[in-house]
Amino acid sequence: MWCERERRATITSQAVRTVTLQEMKREGRKITMLTAYDYPMALLVDRVGIDLILVGDSGGMTVLGYETTIPVTMDEMLMMTKAVTRAVKRAMVVADMPFMSYEAEPADAIRNAGRFVKEGLAHAVKVERGWPSLPCVRAIVDAGIPVMGHVGLTPQTAVLQEGLKVQGRGLDAARRILEDALALEKAGAFAIVLEAIPGMLARIITSRLTVPTIGIGAGPDCDGQVLVLHDLLGLFDRFVPRFTKQYADLAGVIRDAVSRFREEVTEGRFPDAAHTFSIDRETEKALLEL
Ligand code: KIV
Repeated sequence: MWCERERRATITSQAVRTVTLQEMKREGRKITMLTAYDYPMALLVDRVGIDLILVGDSGGMTVLGYETTIPVTMDEMLMMTKAVTRAVKRAMVVADMPFMSYEAEPADAIRNAGRFVKEGLAHAVKVERGWPSLPCVRAIVDAGIPVMGHVGLTPQTAVLQEGLKVQGRGLDAARRILEDALALEKAGAFAIVLEAIPGMLARIITSRLTVPTIGIGAGPDCDGQVLVLHDLLGLFDRFVPRFTKQYADLAGVIRDAVSRFREEVTEGRFPDAAHTFSIDRETEKALLEL
């Protein structure tokens, strides 16, 4: 059993990389992953000891205001990735490959994954879907960049899945997801996100894979768990999946602070003497006589 001081020392000293995640799976230690899209949030998430930070294309919705993740561009993802990696010291940073940045040609996939690593300083990239993504996963891994897979509900292609719904409830669909996960592992993925699938299926996939599974809406038996940071903080209410858990109401805190500022300014109570610079009496007098 680790004492608290040893646990903290581990959090502050060791950078998390793919081998760390393998070790954690082997030792049955749960892996934590959260999204982050900017410097201040990444700083907080990293300092708390979250193992993986995903610069998710969900940032297209939560911070850029798009309706879906489809329109997010490479340049937008790179900008968010750079802000995050400037903050992070310990966590492994995974950049999400945006829709159509990897599907057409393995060469595109390598070039764009390379930009995340060379320009964005990310440690790895994530791609969505199973068998259609296998050639690009192999190509990126062969180019020397770690790749995280993502199966089950894949928001970039939600139109093919009849919307943002739980996947793999029927036997055929469940078998396809299991086969996709096994194929991604074989293609070289170092971890696989399982999104919105029954807990039992996630448990089976987790036990059949040697690489870690990170669940979101996939029950408690995955090797790790991920949430979208803005859902956890109560900062995004346009679409709240049933599987998400809100740990804080930051929207309420922000609304309250902003309305207090507005009230105090409109009522002439801010800035008060404590927030105003003064000059000595003589200069003041001379100024008044100008
Ligand atoms: O973009 C994202 O935030 C994701 C997570 C839901 C895994 O892909």
